[in-house]
Amino acid sequence: MSDAALTVPAEAAAFVRGGGRDVDTSRLELAAAAGARVTLLDPGGDELGLALHDPDNQRLRVLATPADGFPRLDGALLGWRVARALAWRTRLGLPGPDQAFRLLHAAGDGVPGFTCDVLGRWAVLHAYAPALVPVARQLADAVRGFARLDGVVIKTRTRGGASDVAHEVVGQAPPERHVVREGELALEVHATGGLNVGLFTDMREHRLDLARHAPGRTVLNLFSYTGALSLACARAGAAAVTSVDTSAGVQAWAEGNFARNGLGGGGGRWRFEAGDAVRFLARAAKARERYDLVLIDPPTFSTARGKAWALDRDYPALIEQAAAVIPDGGLLWLAANTHELGSLVRLAQRGLRGRGAVIAQGGLPADYPTLPAQPRDRYLQVVALRL
Ligand SMILES: C[S@@+](CC[C@H](N)C(=O)[O-])C[C@H]1O[C@@H](n2cnc3c(N)ncnc32)[C@H](O)[C@@H]1O
Repeated sequence: MSDAALTVPAEAAAFVRGGGRDVDTSRLELAAAAGARVTLLDPGGDELGLALHDPDNQRLRVLATPADGFPRLDGALLGWRVARALAWRTRLGLPGPDQAFRLLHAAGDGVPGFTCDVLGRWAVLHAYAPALVPVARQLADAVRGFARLDGVVIKTRTRGGASDVAHEVVGQAPPERHVVREGELALEVHATGGLNVGLFTDMREHRLDLARHAPGRTVLNLFSYTGALSLACARAGAAAVTSVDTSAGVQAWAEGNFARNGLGGGGGRWRFEAGDAVRFLARAAKARERYDLVLIDPPTFSTARGKAWALDRDYPALIEQAAAVIPDGGLLWLAANTHELGSLVRLAQRGLRGRGAVIAQGGLPADYPTLPAQPRDRYLQVVALRL
């Protein structure tokens, strides 16, 4: 048994027995402290599993069921989780010198409330709330040991914004910047920076797919961040790549990523525009510019240009604007990082007004497992269309 026993109602018990691991507690009164390790019981007193109380997110995080065979939520259980997660990534061929990949993906890897990305010799482990940090430290020890890393940075969101992040390091601290590899690509990451390190590992397979379509094409990448998608296209033989992002800081970072992959300079083939995507498209349409592969991977919400951007409200209009600069036979590649939106294909249909055919649809890669009982965890949608 763990520290304390906690009885949950029949509905929550059924959710756990059905494979659910993030129990919604918004309508429950729970007599347990934030971060408490508890043994969950059903109304009949039967054990459901070992869990962590996460009141900040109104969740009980179930890290083991009786079938897993662990008497308490401790380092032995967490080590077993990490070993299994690493075995799966090894089977996928992901670990290797300096490689970046997701090692732990929350409930899908039996560690609800935590994710962990390996970034070469270091890892960044996210704990979804400050109360989960003591368990995050034990998890970090296990990650460091099993994956043979120099250190693990534990990050916790403190107030909700991407920059309101506390971090601490288990083992050796990483340098402020270091370079990791994703297959052939070399990309700079900032492991101790804000919430985002400069690389979204969930896009790895989409970068590979884009590489198939990019050769010879004139590419426009909107919301380009540190340029990973742009770089995948450029390395694959794109004729030209224009990256647009409001942040001058990430544009300099993207340019650095191009240079470290042997694509410095480029005689005007690689353009980095610091500005608003909507304004860029308006100007491009007016100047009759044409791009035969346009990538759009916008944030869900942003206030980057003073006026708030919201994906569900603004995406169809942006798609319509983008389609106006794509000639027939060109490609439109769309991503959305939320399930709240509904179907991205439907949204594209609204923006494209009858034009285009879907040539590919995708989502999270195999190092981002999710549970059938928690379908909303599959947040990533990617759609490619031929216009
Ligand atoms: C989700 S990230 C894009 C990730 C990127 N596609 C990748 O795969 O690495 C969102 C980016 O959009 C940028 N951004 C936010 N609002 C913008 C706007 N109105 N116009 C252009 N870029 C914007 C942010 O600076 C940030 O770099």
